[in-house]
Amino acid sequence: MSTAQSHADQERTDARDERRITLENDGVRQILEKVNRELVGLAPVKARIGQIAALLMVERARHELGLTTEPPTLHMCFTGNPGTGKTTMALRMAEILHEVGYVRSGHVISVTRDDLVGQYIGHTAPKTKEVIKRAMGGVLFIDEAYYLYRPENERDYGQEAIEILLQAMENDRDDLVVILAGYKDRMDRFFQSNPGLHSRIAHHIAFPDYSADELRTVADLLLEEQGYHFTDDARKAFADYLQRRMQQPHFSNARSVRNALDRFRLRQALRLTQQGGSLGVEDLTSIDAQEVLASSVFGENTDSGTGPSGQPSPQGSTTDPAS
Ligand SMILES: Nc1ncnc2c1ncn2[C@@H]1O[C@H](COP(=O)(O)OP(=O)(O)OP(=O)(O)O)[C@@H](O)[C@H]1O
Ligand SMILES: [Mg+2]
Repeated sequence: MSTAQSHADQERTDARDERRITLENDGVRQILEKVNRELVGLAPVKARIGQIAALLMVERARHELGLTTEPPTLHMCFTGNPGTGKTTMALRMAEILHEVGYVRSGHVISVTRDDLVGQYIGHTAPKTKEVIKRAMGGVLFIDEAYYLYRPENERDYGQEAIEILLQAMENDRDDLVVILAGYKDRMDRFFQSNPGLHSRIAHHIAFPDYSADELRTVADLLLEEQGYHFTDDARKAFADYLQRRMQQPHFSNARSVRNALDRFRLRQALRLTQQGGSLGVEDLTSIDAQEVLASSVFGENTDSGTGPSGQPSPQGSTTDPAS
């Protein structure tokens, strides 16, 4: 390299801003790792959350170096069937937003239509504003957001709540993240009637249904969290259970799994109390095949869904009727 050329290189280097910064991503990485570890499947959702987290870290670094930054709009919409992890992911998202300093506190205010919309004239605005005020500095999670819009009802106050929300989403977007959640088809229709809302949402994230394999892993994970495990036979029975349960109405993905595990534990407890005698750790922590096979999805062997009187019990009439 000639001396003249190296001088030219040097000058170019001097003209460039040579300051450097290290992305501080330990906290965010830990949260993303936790999400990966604790939440089964959801690959596309995790990928998107990872991208958003990365963008936020880069934005923060740019800000620290005094580069042009525009706080990204982060309002989101989570669509998916019941029990696909939307609420759970919203909580994690709030942690990430807080960790990168996008929101001040990272709390989540979870609401539905009734929390925002009043019954009488003049009631809606203060109600909605109060909720927004509580959510400020964190995340406002609006479940089944489409219920805000009821075109069939001429004097519906939902529209008023939507208008106020829109304003907050625009004006307070550096201190408030709104996440709308609900079923895909209804949400699509809702956005068609409320294009202003649609355009203020930067991330539309679809939560897929879980495969049977994933649901089995969810079960193992939830049991582990609770300090239980399946015996080998119970695990086989549970695979069979899932296959049947997934075909039934009101199947709600991971939520149905969680509910099923609750019932298995009830049955295990009853078995242990009836069995009497001394119990070891293995007795207390294992779910046996009989707990699974007693479920009504196996046909005759129903031990719940009817109360002692033979009448359907309250539990049998919930949205998760298969026990
Ligand atoms: N990917 C997952 N891995 C492990 N557990 C999960 C996963 N997704 C959901 N769960 C568990 O399933 C239950 C239901 O999840 P969550 O409430 O987040 O679903 P949702 O999509 O908000 O459902 P809904 O539409 O009914 O409100 C929770 O107890 C959660 O812990
Ligand atoms: Mg939910």
